[in-house]
Amino acid sequence: MPYEVVHQDVLVIGAGGAGLRAAVAAAETGVQVGVVTKSLLGKAHTVMAEGGVAAAFGHMDGQDTWQVHFQDTMKSGHFLNNAHMVELLTREAPDRVLELEGWGALFDRTETGEILQRAFGAHSFRRLAHVGDRTGKELIRTLQNRAVHQGVAVYPEIIITRLFRDARRIAGALGYRRADGRFILFRTPTVIVATGGWGRLYSVTSNSWETTGDGANLAFSVGAELVDMEMVQFHPTGMLWPPGVRGLLVTEGVRGEGGLLYNADHERFMTRYDPERMELSTRDVVARAISSEVAAGRGTPHGGAWLDISHRGAPFILRKLPGMRDQFLQLADVDITRQPMEIAPTVHYMMGGVRVDPDTCATAVVGLYAAGEVAAGVHGANRLGGNSLADLLVFGRRAGLAAAAEVRDDPQLSEIAETEVQLAIAEALAPLGRTAGANPYAIQADLRRTMSQYAGLIRTGTGLTQGLERVRALQRQAVSLQVTGGPAFNPGWNLALDLQAMLVLAEAIFVSAIERTESRGAHFREDFPREDPAWGRFNLITTRGGEGGLRVRREPVVGAEPAAARTERPATASSGGPGRPGGSGGSGGSGGSGGSKEADQT
Ligand code: FUM
Repeated sequence: MPYEVVHQDVLVIGAGGAGLRAAVAAAETGVQVGVVTKSLLGKAHTVMAEGGVAAAFGHMDGQDTWQVHFQDTMKSGHFLNNAHMVELLTREAPDRVLELEGWGALFDRTETGEILQRAFGAHSFRRLAHVGDRTGKELIRTLQNRAVHQGVAVYPEIIITRLFRDARRIAGALGYRRADGRFILFRTPTVIVATGGWGRLYSVTSNSWETTGDGANLAFSVGAELVDMEMVQFHPTGMLWPPGVRGLLVTEGVRGEGGLLYNADHERFMTRYDPERMELSTRDVVARAISSEVAAGRGTPHGGAWLDISHRGAPFILRKLPGMRDQFLQLADVDITRQPMEIAPTVHYMMGGVRVDPDTCATAVVGLYAAGEVAAGVHGANRLGGNSLADLLVFGRRAGLAAAAEVRDDPQLSEIAETEVQLAIAEALAPLGRTAGANPYAIQADLRRTMSQYAGLIRTGTGLTQGLERVRALQRQAVSLQVTGGPAFNPGWNLALDLQAMLVLAEAIFVSAIERTESRGAHFREDFPREDPAWGRFNLITTRGGEGGLRVRREPVVGAEPAAARTERPATASSGGPGRPGGSGGSGGSGGSGGSKEADQT
C-alpha cells in the first residue's frame, strides 16, 4: 500500500489550545513544526471553556496571588494534584494570558482598562479573565493565527492510527486523510500529543465527536503510563432539553455572574450541600447535589434543576452572556433574560490521563510529550473551572519548548521498518475488508450506556465490576469490527478505529475506579462514601500487564519540592532523560506534606 511521507522536527497531534500553544512555542525556536488534527483548524473542545481562564492578576480583588490560586487548586483537587505542576500553573498563568493579549486576544476590561475577572466555583477571588462567554474561542482564534504566522504546517482532517518507536525513542506517526483514506507517514524525532480528553465515552457530554481519547491511547500503546484515570469531571450545568442538545455546555460563567440554582419546589437546594459557597461550590459537589435532588423527587420535568439569571436583567445578560442567550433562544426556545434554564450534569473533562514530567511534559517514552487535557497531574481529583485554559497555555508552551530543545540536542531520526508500516496500514483497513463482524455503532452505543450507568457520578463496587466485564466483552467483539463502503469520508470506519482507543480508556477508568475504595472529588463510591486519608497518599497508575490486560498500581503522591532541587534533578536510568515520569518529579501528584501544609494555611 503506497503512502505519502512528511518530515517534521516536532509533530503535534491535536489542534486545540494545548496543541497550538505547543506548536507556537516550538516554532518560535526555529524548528520545523507540523500540527495534525482529525478535525478542522479552530474546532476544538477548548472552545467549551467558555467562562474564562484562571490567572491571579488580582485586578478585581487585590488580595489574590498565585499562592491563593495554588491553595484553591490543591484543595479542589483533594490533594491528589502534583503540587509542582500546580505551582507552575498558578505562577505562570498571568504571563501566558498577557502574552495572548500581545498576540491579539481581546479580553473584557475594567473601567480603568485592566483585564476584567469574574467569579467561578471554588476560586477564593474573582480570577477568571474572560471574553464574554466565549473565552476558549478567542484563545483558539489567537493561537491559530499565531501558529500560522510562525510557519507551522497544518494537516487537517487526518486521523493518526499509530505511533512508531524503536528501543531508543519515538520515530514517527501514521495517519490517514479522512477525505480520501490515503495514508501519510510523519517521520519525526518528537511527538507532542495534545488530543484532549475522552468525554465521548459517555452518553451525555459537552464534548463533540472528536473527543475519543486517541492521543492517550496512542501514548499508552508505545509505553507511556496513565494516572488518575478514575477521575472524570461532570460539569454541573449542561443543557437538558430538547433531547438533541442534551449535554451541551452551559457555562459556569452563568453562576459566576449571579445565576441561582433551584429545584422543582423553587428551593435554592445548595443550602443543603454547601451553604457557604452555594452555587459557586466545586463542580463535583454541585453536580452531585443536582443528582441527589433529582433522586429525591425534586427534579425538573426532564430530570434536572433550574438555573436562573433573569434577575440580573436583560442588558447585563446580553453584555456578559450573549452566547448563552443565543444558545438557549435558538436551540431551546428559552429566553434566559426572562426564563430559567433547565440543566443537568454533563461529562466535561478528564482529570486523568498521560503521566508527564511536570517541567517538560515528557512522558516515559523518549521523544514523546503530552500536554493539555490528555495529560494528567495538575487537577488531581477535581478540576477548578478556568484552570483548563491556564493548563493548556502553561503546559502547552512547556511541551513545545522541551520538544524543540530535544530536537536540537538529538536530531537523529530513528528507523521505522517498512513491514511495520504495512502492518499498521493493514490493521487500520481491516474493518473495511470484512464481510461479517460487529457493528461499530452498536458497540459505541453499548459502551456509552455502560459508562454512564456504571462509571458515572455515583458509583458502586458491584456496578463498576459489572461495567468492567461489559467493556471486556465489547473489546472481544471489537476485535472483528466490520464496516461497509470504502475509505473515503467513511464515518463508520473512523468510528471503528476510534473505538480501539475508547475501549482501552474505558477499561482504564473501571480498573482504577474499582481500586480506589473511597470517595474523593469526582470519584464518588456509594459503598465507600467517605474520603479516606490513607487513600489521599496515592495516585493510581495504569500500565499494560503481561497478558495485554491493564494493571493498576498505587504510587505515593509527591509533595512540592524546593525550586533548587527541581533544577538539579538528575537523569534517571529508566527514563533516558532528565525528569521523565517514573523518576523523581514524575507526575504522581501531590498531597504530601508540602501541598497539604500550604493549603492548610488558607
Ligand atoms: O463553564 C465553563 O465555562 C467551562 C470552563 C472550564 O471548563 O474551564
